[in-house]
Amino acid sequence: VTADMLVATDPLEAALDLHRRGDLAEAERLYRAILDDDPDSVNALYLLGVVARATGRAEEAVALIGRAVALAPHFAEAQLNLGHALKSCGRFAEAAAAYQAALDHKDLAAARDGLAAIEQGGHYLDALRTTLEQEYKAGRWSYLGQMSETARYGVVSSYVRAAAPAGPLLDLGCGAGTLYPHLPHGRITAYVGVDISAEALAAHLGRAQPAAPVQLVASPLESFAPAQGARFAAIIFNEVLLYVLDPLAALRRFRASLAPGGILVVSWYRMKDPGQLAKEEATWAALQAPDWGMLDWSLLRNQMHGLDWRIAVLRPV
Ligand SMILES: C[S@@+](CC[C@H](N)C(=O)[O-])C[C@H]1O[C@@H](n2cnc3c(N)ncnc32)[C@H](O)[C@@H]1O
Repeated sequence: VTADMLVATDPLEAALDLHRRGDLAEAERLYRAILDDDPDSVNALYLLGVVARATGRAEEAVALIGRAVALAPHFAEAQLNLGHALKSCGRFAEAAAAYQAALDHKDLAAARDGLAAIEQGGHYLDALRTTLEQEYKAGRWSYLGQMSETARYGVVSSYVRAAAPAGPLLDLGCGAGTLYPHLPHGRITAYVGVDISAEALAAHLGRAQPAAPVQLVASPLESFAPAQGARFAAIIFNEVLLYVLDPLAALRRFRASLAPGGILVVSWYRMKDPGQLAKEEATWAALQAPDWGMLDWSLLRNQMHGLDWRIAVLRPV
C-alpha cells in the first residue's frame, strides 16, 4: 500500500496504521465506518478493496477498487491493485488493461511486472489452472448440470447433429463433460475432451459409458496439440473462449484441425462487463467472412434466470 494519494484525515490515518501493522479486521472495520459517512471516499474504497483481496475476497476487491478507480481514474496505485484483484479472479484481459491504465499515469514496477506476466501467458495459465482446480474441488461449477444451463447444451448439440459430418469431436474446455450426454453419439466416432482442470476431467461424464472411444487430456487448450494428422468433424468451444487470453490465436490454430466439411461451434455467455464484452465482440468479428462462413447463430435467453448466450455454428472458408 502506498500512501501517495491518501488524504491525511484522522480516521483514515488510524485505519491505515492498523492496516500496515497487519490488523486487517480492525482496519476493515474503520474503513467501513469511513464509508458509512462518505460512501465516495476514494481512499477508503481503495484500501478496503486491498484488505478484501488480502483476505481472499477478490471479487469484492474488484468491486471496491473498481469504484475507487471510477471516481479517480488517475489513481495509479488503485489501478495497479485493481489489476491484481482482477488477476486473482482469473479476469486476465481486464487485469492487463488495469495494469496498463496504472502505467499510463505512473511508472510502477509492479504494474510492469503484472502486465509482463500476463503477456507471457505462462503465469496466466498457472494462475488459471490453480483457480479452476480449486473451484472444481469446491463445487463452484456444479451449476453447469442444472436446468438453467440445459438449453445451451441442447443448442450446441443440435448444431453438431445438423451440421457436422460423421467423425471425431473435439470438446475444448470440456469441464466435467456436461455436454457429453447431449451429443449425437451415432455420428461421433471418437470424443476428445481437453480441460485445464484435471479435477474436472476426473468427473467427466464420458468416462462411465463411452459410446465411442473417449480421450480426456488435462491441458490448457493453448498448449494442446491434437495427435499428428487428427482431423475433427466438430470442434466445440462451449463457454471457454472467455477464459482464453488470445481467443483469435486459438481459433486460428484449431481451424487447421478441422476435417473437410467440419464445423466449429462457439458458445459465449454474454457478460455485462465492458472489458469482457469487448473481447467477445472482437472474437465474433473475426469469425466472419472472408475467413469463416456462419451457418447459423442464436441468441439464447434463459428467462427464468436472466442468462444470455450467443451460440454459433461455422465452417472455415
Ligand atoms: C464455463 S466452463 C464450461 C465447461 C463446458 N464446456 C460446459 O459448457 O459445460 C469453462 C471450462 O473451461 C475450462 N478452461 C478455462 N480456461 C481453459 C484453458 N485455457 N484451456 C482449457 N480449459 C480451460 C475450465 O476449467 C472449465 O472447465
